Amino acid sequence: MSEQTPFKQTRAYRMEVAEDKTTNPTDNQTFGDVVNQRLGRRDALKGMLAVTALSGTTGVIASVLTAESAEAAHHGATFNFKEISHGVDEKHHVADGYDADILLRWGDALFSDSPAFDPANQSRASQEKQFGYNNDYVGFIPLGEDSALLCVNHEYTNEELMFPGLGRQDKPKPEQVKKKDKDGKPDKAELLKTRFLNMTQDIADVEMAAHGGTVVEIKKTGGKWSAVIGSKYNRRITANTEMELSGPAAGSHLVKTKADPSGTKVLGTINNCAGGITPWGTYLMAEENFNGYFWNKDAAASHPNADMLKRYGAPGQWYNWGAYYDRFDVAKDPNEVHRFGWVVEVDPMDPASTPKKRTAIGRFKHEGAETIVNKDGRVAVYSGDDERGDYLYKFVTKGKYDAGNRAANMDLLDDGVLYVARFDADGTIKWLPLVHGEGPLIAANGFNSQADVLVFARKAGDALGATKMDRPEDVQPNPKTNKVYVCLTNNKHRGGKHPIDAANPREKNPFGHVIEITPTGGDHAALDGKWDILVQGGNPGKPEQGAVFNKATSENGWFGSPDNAAVDGKGRLWISTDQGSKWPKTGTADGIWALETEGELRGTGKMFFRVPIGAEMCGPCFSNDDTALFLAVQHPASDGAKAFPGFGRNSTFEDPVTRWPDFKPGTPPRPSVVVVTKKGGGAIGS
Ligand code: FEO
Ligand code: CA
Ligand code: CA
Ligand code: CA
Repeated sequence: MSEQTPFKQTRAYRMEVAEDKTTNPTDNQTFGDVVNQRLGRRDALKGMLAVTALSGTTGVIASVLTAESAEAAHHGATFNFKEISHGVDEKHHVADGYDADILLRWGDALFSDSPAFDPANQSRASQEKQFGYNNDYVGFIPLGEDSALLCVNHEYTNEELMFPGLGRQDKPKPEQVKKKDKDGKPDKAELLKTRFLNMTQDIADVEMAAHGGTVVEIKKTGGKWSAVIGSKYNRRITANTEMELSGPAAGSHLVKTKADPSGTKVLGTINNCAGGITPWGTYLMAEENFNGYFWNKDAAASHPNADMLKRYGAPGQWYNWGAYYDRFDVAKDPNEVHRFGWVVEVDPMDPASTPKKRTAIGRFKHEGAETIVNKDGRVAVYSGDDERGDYLYKFVTKGKYDAGNRAANMDLLDDGVLYVARFDADGTIKWLPLVHGEGPLIAANGFNSQADVLVFARKAGDALGATKMDRPEDVQPNPKTNKVYVCLTNNKHRGGKHPIDAANPREKNPFGHVIEITPTGGDHAALDGKWDILVQGGNPGKPEQGAVFNKATSENGWFGSPDNAAVDGKGRLWISTDQGSKWPKTGTADGIWALETEGELRGTGKMFFRVPIGAEMCGPCFSNDDTALFLAVQHPASDGAKAFPGFGRNSTFEDPVTRWPDFKPGTPPRPSVVVVTKKGGGAIGS
């Protein structure tokens, strides 16, 4: 698909474009140079050869097996299911022998007084009592053998599919903008009005209520999971829920606003992408592309932290909330923007509890926040900053997890050390501490306190010389092996200040890759470890794509644009993908692939589930006994509808490419959580 300006595209597309831009201005030494010296410029440019030379564990293959011959090649596999095919259509697909049932749809009731879903008559009040839009992260907290809490993030909203009559709002043609500036160009203010035509305050209010997260009790009856409407645990968290800022940046001058001179009380959470469940059973919501919700580009240059607004891509003006609410206007409330971009911790056992934004984990575009208990009892939180050329982080708590005393763990995430990753060409990773007063993080460089370091974590990462990555998405520790898997989703171009390097070896990387980190001694608090590339996305049958998979991978087993990851109870890795509108490059809709990590089949993918046209695959989350796999189908009918054979146009509420999952005339497509179970019971994929 050709490059288009954000103005001409949907929010889903703007999200893609923004993440694939870079705001990283540094010329931090990458190890491209070191690789060049070691392997010679030519091999370094080939990238995958450099990596193969370094690791010796992944093989470059120039073909893929047919589905039939792959069956035999998979002898000794840890996964046992019949692979599904690449493809794209209006429905979802799961491997034979499994059911994939719709569990929760946008607009479904959560409370006994929730109004019925009525997309023609939406309101803030109804949406606040219903399941939100664009489900992304899914977390599972068992309550008993047949009951659990599901914690689900609602990342963003697609207005053209969500509301009747709006159509594609983001497409003003110059002639539609009547008022011109002195140069005869469309007047900027008028352009914005046209772009958000008919996007009333009522609509903004529904959007704000459709963001955030849901906590919902689910129960299993006769082997099937369903939501418990009216459960005492059920809760909606929105862009207006009262929250607390806690940890070292709370109360800083950078987070004080007119409405909150204390710098400790915040309203809401936005763009909650992936997340995590802590060992003590709290729900972590990662705030990702918060920049897009802020308003007033004209005022950005005179903002007191103009350089940092730029570094974080704010204000993006993807939503017009700032036209109605001053706090989203960077001129009227300059510090509100600093109160987003954090990891939010929610106690799902207490629906009256105040969610806490844990500032010790740093402020950036957090894709997720997965935790693991270290062997010494401390807890590590891994989190990627999802933007082209941004960094991988981990946070290690000071205190230790107490398995026998839940209350003692509730503020563990307020105290500890945040680190940013440097990947060296010899296959080692170094974790560099973001501690005020250490190294370059001193007043002379603009860091006057730990709060400054955390609020502007990207700037601290720049100063420390962290490695610029190909858009770090989910980072998944494996408690069975203590290895850590990093999904790097894509990078349309490395060059200039972002040359290729050993850990990001492709100059054009539309298909992404997965890195495996082995912490030294299995210690997640260690300052170093080893890294290796597990797979490089793309079609191994097309050598020009530079894909790296195991040679046992079939024509359906390779994938592009890894995004989320999950590890099941056996310690096996599952990867879900988000190609956005670029799915025609692989010819398949997104889905979930089982991925071997050990032994001779290491690096072999196997396709298990496929989403309907226009969706991305999020969530993957196993019940603790592996008998259920919860999958989030986000923005069905949205991405790349125009390329769908026989449709050839963009989707709208009235005219979507699929009406998944209801397929009822007049009912729009609905982002939904799907639950996969094995027919007759049993663990998934075994
Ligand atoms: Fe919300 Fe990085 O995906
Ligand atoms: Ca994601
Ligand atoms: Ca995950
Ligand atoms: Ca993504």
